[in-house]
Amino acid sequence: MAEELVVDTSLTKAEQYRQLLPQVEALTTGEPDLVANLANTVAALRQAFGFFWVGFYLVKDNELVLGPFQGPVACTRIRHGKGVCGSSWAQAATLLVPDVEQFPGHIACSSESKSEIVVPVLKEGAVVAVLDVDSDQLNAFNHDDQQALEQMMQLAARWF
Ligand code: SME
Repeated sequence: MAEELVVDTSLTKAEQYRQLLPQVEALTTGEPDLVANLANTVAALRQAFGFFWVGFYLVKDNELVLGPFQGPVACTRIRHGKGVCGSSWAQAATLLVPDVEQFPGHIACSSESKSEIVVPVLKEGAVVAVLDVDSDQLNAFNHDDQQALEQMMQLAARWF
């Protein structure tokens, strides 16, 4: 396919995600390189929704290590159980944080980040990475983001 993204911004967020998912699938199908696929996924999410920060942290040697991302520079390593990302990893579950200041132990890579969603990538039951999406608005994420991003991370699991 042409490397061009088509998302109709007059649609609801859920509908925009429904348009985006097959395009991410088409961009990554047949490409065996993990970094290339993660990089295009974060670029597609940023381009479609203009998120403040979107990126992957990869599980390496029992730590999360920063992977492909779009947005301001960020923390490089996060320990198991630490912050929203490390907690999502420890719980193997999506964490929706409407106000990061209310999340005990939140790691503030940027003071502009106000709300956050972290979705684990599960490969054969084990977390191999997490997707972290940050907004500079409070309460920016809801069940629609969770459902669509979890579906996208099921696709991402195939790349590991
Ligand atoms: N806020 C995250 C750290 C990663 S940055 O937001 C990019 C956390 O608490 O895990």
